[in-house]
Amino acid sequence: MPEYLPTAPYRGTRDFLPPEMSVRMQVFGHLYDVLERYGYLRYDGPLMESAEIYERKSGQEIADQQLYTLTDRGDRRLALRPEMTPTVARIIAGNAGSLQFPVRWYSHPNCFRYERPQRGRVREHWQINADIFGSESPNCEIEMFELVHDLLRSVGATEDMFRVRANDRNLLSSALTDLVGCTAEQLPQVFSLVDRWEKYDRDTLAGQAETIGLADKQFEKLGDVLGAGLALLDELPAPVKEASNLVRVLESDAAGLVHFDPMIVRGLAYYTSTVFEVFDVSPENNRALFGGGRYSDLAGMFTSQQITGIGFGMGDVTLMDFLATHGLAPSPRSEVDVVVIPVSEDLGGAARQVATRLRGTGLRTSTPLELRKLGKELAKADKAGARAVVIVGREDWDSGNVTVRSLATREQRQVPLDEAPTAVAALLAE
Ligand code: HAM
Repeated sequence: MPEYLPTAPYRGTRDFLPPEMSVRMQVFGHLYDVLERYGYLRYDGPLMESAEIYERKSGQEIADQQLYTLTDRGDRRLALRPEMTPTVARIIAGNAGSLQFPVRWYSHPNCFRYERPQRGRVREHWQINADIFGSESPNCEIEMFELVHDLLRSVGATEDMFRVRANDRNLLSSALTDLVGCTAEQLPQVFSLVDRWEKYDRDTLAGQAETIGLADKQFEKLGDVLGAGLALLDELPAPVKEASNLVRVLESDAAGLVHFDPMIVRGLAYYTSTVFEVFDVSPENNRALFGGGRYSDLAGMFTSQQITGIGFGMGDVTLMDFLATHGLAPSPRSEVDVVVIPVSEDLGGAARQVATRLRGTGLRTSTPLELRKLGKELAKADKAGARAVVIVGREDWDSGNVTVRSLATREQRQVPLDEAPTAVAALLAE
């Protein structure tokens, strides 16, 4: 016996069969439409980058645990992209001279992270990224929050299904330093503790806080700060608040788009101020649908020019879980609208001519590749989701006609060839 290789895809990656792909394409189509309507332009980049760009900027979790790395034949260390932001920062930096800032760009890359596959987490996911480069204005933050709402509305979600939670790392740093008494050295570790706050129980968190060197009282105070919501702002120094775009948003007419939440910090290292995540309100989907924020110096890896960026990534896995949970996933489209069936092999050319006419009017049309009896072909067309068939018989064809049949009612009528597209369209519209 030959030893067959597994047909299952590599752990944590997925095959998408046509029905699932059809659902995905419909959902992504709505999202692209919204982005295009906001004036975002699509870009793309390579699957592989120098490993260094992630090791320098994405933070420890990605660099130490999640990066897929390889060495090419020229001994260069490369990585499969775990995210798109370092790539887009590189592209923006490399083309800054010819761009008219601010720019709005979007992409839809697949990203690779070596993670333990579990609900909401896989090793290859697709992530819609939307970013603005070259503007410090709080209008960017407002636009990001508006976009998030519009994107989710476009796939059928209502406001009660999700929550946009935002914070500013500078506000959090100030609270941790001034109110909790953390030292500057402790801050990165406390940030990462805050990032895990909702994932672990209190005892585990207390143990981790102790390792960082926080006293019991400080741990208590940290809990108060993280749970304070908007009231925290009253305790922070005025200059810190004045410098915060998020505070500007919260004071504006766009405040209703977002909930201020001191617990949001995000895992990636490069965010410099605003950070936000969008969550499904259903407890079974406890992972963020979107994550993003502002990063002022990522382009600084590639250029001396300071180009600030702000944006987010929206993952396909969490989005599809969200849609399934709320009953919003669309049905797969049928394979075709109409099948043109010749009654015998010698009418194959005639059937192809009819099909060409129908396709010319935008109808999704197929013809049998291996002709069987008419009854079998009708059953096959029905199974493919076609709602109409056009039957091409010898006598009809010789007198310039075809037969158009509804698969729903089984009614059929003879029409002149020229009228076939209109007759089929009328059946489909019923
Ligand atoms: P992130 O939070 O690492 O941010 O990922 C963004 C989103 O991608 C997550 O909220 C989640 O929906 C999805 N995601 C991430 N990792 C996985 C995984 N292993 N399996 C399934 N889904 C996943 C970023 O990547 C930033 N670069 C986003 C960004 C763009 N920030 C500014 N611009």
